[in-house]
Amino acid sequence: MSSTQTTETATTEAKPFFTYGAQFENKDLVDFDENRHYGDWRDEFHKTGCVVIKNVLSKERAQYYCDKQIEWLKKFDLGFDEKAPETWTADHLPVSFKGGMYFAYGATHEKMAWEARTEPAIVEIFEKLWETKELICSFDGMNVSMPNRKDLSWSPWPHCDQNPERKGMQAVQGFINYAPNGPKDGGLVLMKGSAKLFNEFFSEKREQDDHEDAPPPEIKFMDLFLFNKKDVKWFEDHGCELVKVDMEPGDFVLWDSRTMHYAKLPEGDQIRHVQYICMTPRRFATPEALEAKKLCFEKYYGTTHWPHCNVRPSSEKPMRNGQVCPKYRAEPFEKPVITDQVLRLAGIKPY
Ligand SMILES: [Fe+2]
Repeated sequence: MSSTQTTETATTEAKPFFTYGAQFENKDLVDFDENRHYGDWRDEFHKTGCVVIKNVLSKERAQYYCDKQIEWLKKFDLGFDEKAPETWTADHLPVSFKGGMYFAYGATHEKMAWEARTEPAIVEIFEKLWETKELICSFDGMNVSMPNRKDLSWSPWPHCDQNPERKGMQAVQGFINYAPNGPKDGGLVLMKGSAKLFNEFFSEKREQDDHEDAPPPEIKFMDLFLFNKKDVKWFEDHGCELVKVDMEPGDFVLWDSRTMHYAKLPEGDQIRHVQYICMTPRRFATPEALEAKKLCFEKYYGTTHWPHCNVRPSSEKPMRNGQVCPKYRAEPFEKPVITDQVLRLAGIKPY
């Protein structure tokens, strides 16, 4: 997803939203030769704008993260039990967005989130993609979605996370998948091939869909465009295909942020476990954006999935029944171990 981190976590503070790195680059930030042959997943990625990279983490390591995420949900003491589906309701869970995306409560800086961001095999994906070791990461959330929740209404919300004014490949999103994720287990739905048609689609004036989950207008999302049904058809008519991405524990998925996508709720009996991760070259960031990242890191605020710009410190308090959630906390339960690598990825320490 993951820049739409608001609806249930609406702010209680009247301060204006501020966003750093607001410049819109109108070209690719890196030149990729269309005819180059990589001999690995990059060939598929550059062709279709998305790719699943298999077995990035071992099954055991993926299970470790599933366990950590469940442990985290239980730390709120709201009666959640992963073995008792009757407790899979909002009353027993911390406040999330779209039924399972967690951005508040310091979640984006939990030790487990930073452990995932510093997994060598995950960092290596972004090093290969951008062809540099000098990367910075977003402080994005995780997704733990229980299947068949009766207390949620849901409808597809096809969107892309790049402003139409930004042209070319400027960010590539991803997540590490921790649990088995087959056709009934919800998750990522992508319009394969849509990134390449971004300029053509937006060469005409397009109106955003008025979706029930659209962020409130006072929150200026610079990098979000909600598509309507006609737009979905436009991409299908131009040879794209809407696919639900199936993944095994330890698989990683990458997609160009110009790609139309959304997340579906699970309908089987498997809980979905995901950590969103995104890295871009540090050289893309302005000093102002790096300063904003430092603030977010120090205060345990999350960001959008954009590592180098659109750094919108998310300091909103989670709201429950019109009040700040009584379980609100401003820091992680388990703080990350601060290493040079963490500080570099956070943008605080230069390379
Ligand atoms: Fe998204």
